[in-house]
Amino acid sequence: MSEPVVDHPCFSRFFNWLASRGPGRGSFVALRSATAGQARGVTLELGAGGGPNFAYYDPALVARVEATEPDATMLGYARQRAAQASVPITLTQAPAEALPFGDDTFDTAVMTLVFCSVADPERSLRELLRTLKPGGRLLMAEHVRSRHTALAATQSALVPLTTRLASNCHWNRDAASVVRQAGFAEVHAQPLTYPRPSIRLLAGGLLPIQLIEARKPDIS
Ligand SMILES: C[S@@+](CC[C@H](N)C(=O)[O-])C[C@H]1O[C@@H](n2cnc3c(N)ncnc32)[C@H](O)[C@@H]1O
Repeated sequence: MSEPVVDHPCFSRFFNWLASRGPGRGSFVALRSATAGQARGVTLELGAGGGPNFAYYDPALVARVEATEPDATMLGYARQRAAQASVPITLTQAPAEALPFGDDTFDTAVMTLVFCSVADPERSLRELLRTLKPGGRLLMAEHVRSRHTALAATQSALVPLTTRLASNCHWNRDAASVVRQAGFAEVHAQPLTYPRPSIRLLAGGLLPIQLIEARKPDIS
């Protein structure tokens, strides 16, 4: 099976600014605390970007983090943040569709704002399921398809634009359904609200964010 090549230097520079110094920084605190901040044991982070989650891993609870990211520009930023993190972090250039890790390796998998961009959502989640230990936990935060028909149609209409401009970003994916279809158990999805009213007004309708938690089924 072929692997997607991800190489978007302009978007990577823009998103790294947005997530670290731009309006995204404050907006994303809650989703980073609810995902990376809740990780335990040996942890996999997919599509780590420039590493804004690294500061949220608790050294008392997380043994080490294997962080993957396919884009070389993002990896450059992530290297700097990994060096400052208080948990050991190893970075590997790899797409979510082909993870270079053995079966049943990780206690926790973290994925923030990545599912929208992967080339093959089902294959990515099957890879996650394979590499998690039985009972291992997925902590995912993602902007998802709106529950309102008109907004969902607008999201779909914008996809040709957003995929071109924003590193294959799809505004219309129903992440929780794909997590269930991939074979995860105990799938819980809840909305996360943007803290700033102005951003909530601008982004909340077309970019509703969900926190999705799930487990790899235990071996019976
Ligand atoms: C919007 S950024 C989010 C970065 C980071 N996770 C965060 O929370 O700030 C999306 C990230 O997904 C990565 N990405 C795109 N396609 C991917 C794939 N097939 N597998 C893994 N990551 C991918 C991009 O390179 C980028 O770093």
